[in-house]
Amino acid sequence: MNKTDIILDNIYNRKSVRQYTDKKITKEDLDKIIKAGISAPSGLNLQPWHFIVIQDKQTLIDMASIHEYAGMFKDATAGIIVLYDTKKTYPGLEELAIQDLSAATENILLATEALGLGAVWTAIHPVEKRINKLIKYFNLPENIIPFSLIALGYPLKKQEPLDKMDTTKIHWDKW
Ligand SMILES: Cc1cc2nc3c(=O)[nH]c(=O)nc-3n(C[C@H](O)[C@H](O)[C@H](O)COP(=O)(O)O)c2cc1C
Repeated sequence: MNKTDIILDNIYNRKSVRQYTDKKITKEDLDKIIKAGISAPSGLNLQPWHFIVIQDKQTLIDMASIHEYAGMFKDATAGIIVLYDTKKTYPGLEELAIQDLSAATENILLATEALGLGAVWTAIHPVEKRINKLIKYFNLPENIIPFSLIALGYPLKKQEPLDKMDTTKIHWDKW
């Protein structure tokens, strides 16, 4: 496969992985994953993100009780919280940050796939009770709001991506 096919294949193969082996993810791989998040585009290049990287087992287990649909954290060997820095906004365009943080989260998932790891995106924003629980758990400063919570680990089993192709959703030149 040439470079283009390898990169496209990585995008097409990304899938949500919710079961993991015990194998730990190296610091080197976590650094690469975070670098992918930071490589995302952002409106006005404000880069309104921070990342909490979780490796501690008890903290991972605690994440499962913070988010009612994040039971996979009991098995995850790492986690990443993508956070919004509300000081990094452009007046009147505060909502842009949602797109920036989504792009960073997706880049993290793509890097995870490329490294042979598995991950799943779970939403914190816009669920008030999840946001508040994480703020309290990590004692976050006033300007830092949790956005997404990603579980990571080596996949327990081989998994195919979902087939989402639906040509009726693609509109060429007109609706
Ligand atoms: C904003 C967002 C929130 C999600 N929240 C959860 C979640 O709470 N728990 C979970 O298991 N998966 C969650 N997912 C993963 C989706 O269920 C998954 O992306 C979808 O079923 C499509 O499957 P795929 O990722 O394998 O293509 C979320 C995905 C997104 C983008």
